[in-house]
Amino acid sequence: MNRDIFLVGNWKMYITSQKEAESLAAGVVRGVEAVKPSKNIHTVLCPPHPHLKPVQKELKRDIVLGAQNVWHEDRGAFTGEVSAKMLKDVLCEYVIVGHSERRKYFGEDEELVNKKVKAVLQHNMRPIIAIGEKERDGRVRDVITRQLNGALDGVSAKEVKKVLIAYEPVWAIGTGQAAQPDDVMSVRILIRKLLGKLYSEKTAQSVPVLYGGSTDSKNINNFVFGAEMDGALVGGASAKADEFVKMVENISNKQVNK
Ligand code: PGA
Repeated sequence: MNRDIFLVGNWKMYITSQKEAESLAAGVVRGVEAVKPSKNIHTVLCPPHPHLKPVQKELKRDIVLGAQNVWHEDRGAFTGEVSAKMLKDVLCEYVIVGHSERRKYFGEDEELVNKKVKAVLQHNMRPIIAIGEKERDGRVRDVITRQLNGALDGVSAKEVKKVLIAYEPVWAIGTGQAAQPDDVMSVRILIRKLLGKLYSEKTAQSVPVLYGGSTDSKNINNFVFGAEMDGALVGGASAKADEFVKMVENISNKQVNK
């Protein structure tokens, strides 16, 4: 049986109107339906909050909805925030938590990321926890250890089975300078080792570990098959239907021909 592979489109704030969001979603749906990827290849679209519902209406079959951010409280005086309960209500299945842009511009720290992870799990959705070092020569091991342990503090072995980890070196995001697959592979091994320490070897193997940072249709297979990552969190390339579909197609073709 083929392992599960996740291609998650993080539209960020690249999409700025409902019309644009609907047409991008429709384009991805059409393209992915034509590719007919096997069941183990999962496509997730994460539009901006106001476009969740319109995009959800366009989705078909195995393409599902995710959100880019969440607030951890269920209700109350939190002006401008959106709860996990509200996301679940519009049929989100995944939520990106702790993206480096959230950490950078909104000051999200490990403690807040941890609360958000728990809120997402509590509402029966899957958190995609983004972690990664800022500088190219940064202390990868230290950063990954701190961010991973912090995000999963108090998350049970049963709950962690719903978690996905996205390793995103910040310097590789949106720069056109993807990381080297060999380096990404060693971080995947580190993440699984840390998960093994927190839980068990078996549980660690069941948590998907994705890569993110300047992925596109040309390099995606270096990460999915070279570095053996369980997919990618895609920014820029996910805002273009053809390019994103091509990524799904390339993974699908490679899997068949392997
Ligand atoms: P990028 O973004 O693919 O544009 O580098 C990835 C991300 O921020 O998740």
